[in-house]
Amino acid sequence: MIKIAVLPGDGIGREVIPPAVEALKTAGRRFKLTFELKEALVGGAAIDATGTPLPPETLALAQASDAVLLGAVGGPKWEGFDYAVRPERALLGLREALGLYANLRPAKLAPMLADASPLRREVVQGTDIMVVRELTGGIYFGKPKGIEKTADGQERGVNTEVYTTKEIERIARVAFDIARGRRKLVTSVDKANVLESSELWRRVVIGVQKKDYPDVTLRHIYVDNCAMQLVKAPTQFDVLLTTNMFGDILSDEAAQVVGSIGLLPSASVGAVNASGMKGMYEPIHGSAPDIAGQDKANPLATILSAAMLLRYTARHEPAAAAIEQA
Ligand code: IPM
Ligand code: MG
Repeated sequence: MIKIAVLPGDGIGREVIPPAVEALKTAGRRFKLTFELKEALVGGAAIDATGTPLPPETLALAQASDAVLLGAVGGPKWEGFDYAVRPERALLGLREALGLYANLRPAKLAPMLADASPLRREVVQGTDIMVVRELTGGIYFGKPKGIEKTADGQERGVNTEVYTTKEIERIARVAFDIARGRRKLVTSVDKANVLESSELWRRVVIGVQKKDYPDVTLRHIYVDNCAMQLVKAPTQFDVLLTTNMFGDILSDEAAQVVGSIGLLPSASVGAVNASGMKGMYEPIHGSAPDIAGQDKANPLATILSAAMLLRYTARHEPAAAAIEQA
């Protein structure tokens, strides 16, 4: 029995979740898996109903579940709100509270969609990238942070990019483990020519590879060059290992390279090898207020996220593959 917290959220989140739940149930019938599905409010919908984007009941449900299936959060209605009560805080709060430090974002070209890519067919053909993004550290969570007044009457906005050895080691392991099931190539993204946090990142990643993953090839690339190489020759990449911020940016780019950000799923997990791994599964796209309520949203990214749930939390590869194949 797999307990799933279903959090549709806002905008097209409410439209893409029902077909994904339908896909899960269909796979469940075929492969004799049982699910306990419980729905809760998150994001703007939760702000409207309770005044906060991640109500305690929603967090408690997520904590008591094996997996979270999330639609999307946010919309123009809540954009002027204070940072602390914006819909996006719910995502960050769930990631942090559930310890989901590894974000897996596969950008794989579906051959029939090659012409949807802004790149020429011969450039994009064969692209199959897994972005492994660190999700609970870096500049998103680093301290000090905030906006303060300075003595000369100005204001000063501060965020801190910070990584510890332990944080780098565990995300590097996820990347190397995943690479073993793929083409065995990890490209670690950093800005080691400028940032000390990147210097440590690179050193620790090299150490992990030398010690435990000699069978996996490790390359390093500066983030600016990576952004360029992704549109120049995307097939050179297998697993991209990134910090939280760099992964946020590069995963949007990788998604568009393979045709559309509207088609890509994601999994946020705590570790890839432990059994019974908890995870949060969501499409990479947002709540798309411009097309919400028009029955136009493509639910594929959420359906593929449900497949990732079956792969990583339910550990049922045949059921995951069946959804992807369908
Ligand atoms: C993502 C989103 C989020 C992020 C926002 C909505 C907080 O852009 O999941 O990529 O920056 O992580
Ligand atoms: Mg993003």
